Amino acid sequence: MLDPLSTPAAELPVRRLGPEDLDRCLALSQDRSWAREERKWLFLLENTEVHAIDAPSGELAATVTLTRYGTAAAGVGMMLVATRYGGRGLGRRLMTHVLGTAGDATVFLWATELGRPLYEKLGFETLGVTEARVGRLRPGDAPVLSRPADLDADLGALLALDRQAFGADRAALLGRLFAMAEEVRVTEDETGPTGYAVSWLSGSTLFIGPVVADDEAGARALVTDLTRHASGLVRIEMDRSRPGLLAWLGERGAAQAFSTSFMVHGGRPLPGDRTRVFAPMMLAMG
Ligand SMILES: CC(C)(COP(=O)(O)OP(=O)(O)OC[C@H]1O[C@@H](n2cnc3c(N)ncnc32)[C@H](O)[C@@H]1OP(=O)(O)O)[C@@H](O)C(=O)NCCC(=O)NCCS
Repeated sequence: MLDPLSTPAAELPVRRLGPEDLDRCLALSQDRSWAREERKWLFLLENTEVHAIDAPSGELAATVTLTRYGTAAAGVGMMLVATRYGGRGLGRRLMTHVLGTAGDATVFLWATELGRPLYEKLGFETLGVTEARVGRLRPGDAPVLSRPADLDADLGALLALDRQAFGADRAALLGRLFAMAEEVRVTEDETGPTGYAVSWLSGSTLFIGPVVADDEAGARALVTDLTRHASGLVRIEMDRSRPGLLAWLGERGAAQAFSTSFMVHGGRPLPGDRTRVFAPMMLAMG
């Protein structure tokens, strides 16, 4: 096996990982002091392309995930280079590799401050800042304005709604997410579903996302109803272009844990009507 310490990064082979690599991915996250998110990693390993560079020790030197949404869009995430291999071009090598793999798709990601300089060098532009909000949400006394989804009856309508808002087909991924969700809730009017949102557990934290709604009131209703009985921490990611919702989350007890820059490659337009996407499924995926 080639040693990243003595081999030019461009010559290092890139390998596709699978669920059997879960422990290696968790070890790499830990090396960079990222939270141990077993369920999220497993979901990514089972449902997206995880590309990696091996280290001679049998551990991973670097990872990145590519989630394709048909040919229109692709999300990049989990860009991690082990500390001992940092600054040797491995990040550039993996990102160049997935950009080549993504073809004509509009490629987007959420960047940490450590990652942003590399992505800027490779042609990504920052479009906004997204806050990760975490807290023990105080249940308000707001009335219940959504209902649990009936996935037999609602699935087609929810996927159509999602496709219009997100602008690309994520039916397969949403099917997998719905299967592991704590709850999927729907808002509706006389014409049918107008929005939906999902809650799912990673460790003891209840993640909320995606949230797709007609307007802020719809998004608030979905988040309120999904978190009404949450006993532990809740996490949701929200763009700073939504100050009203961020203030509302703050009042309910969700404080900013960290923030990321939302970046798109090459000034390409994002498909869909993103004004209706209030929270992503996962920062790693979109
Ligand atoms: C961000 C990260 C992936 C970069 O990986 P890396 O292998 O060290 O980066 P590279 O050596 O490939 O750097 C590529 C280029 O970006 C530049 N670069 C990388 N990180 C930089 C930084 N923090 N500040 C300024 N420039 C930086 C390098 O100078 C290099 O420029 P060059 O190719 O023109 O010489 C790595 O630091 C890491 O894993 N950080 C912790 C996890 C994290 O935050 N990941 C990003 C998630 S969005």
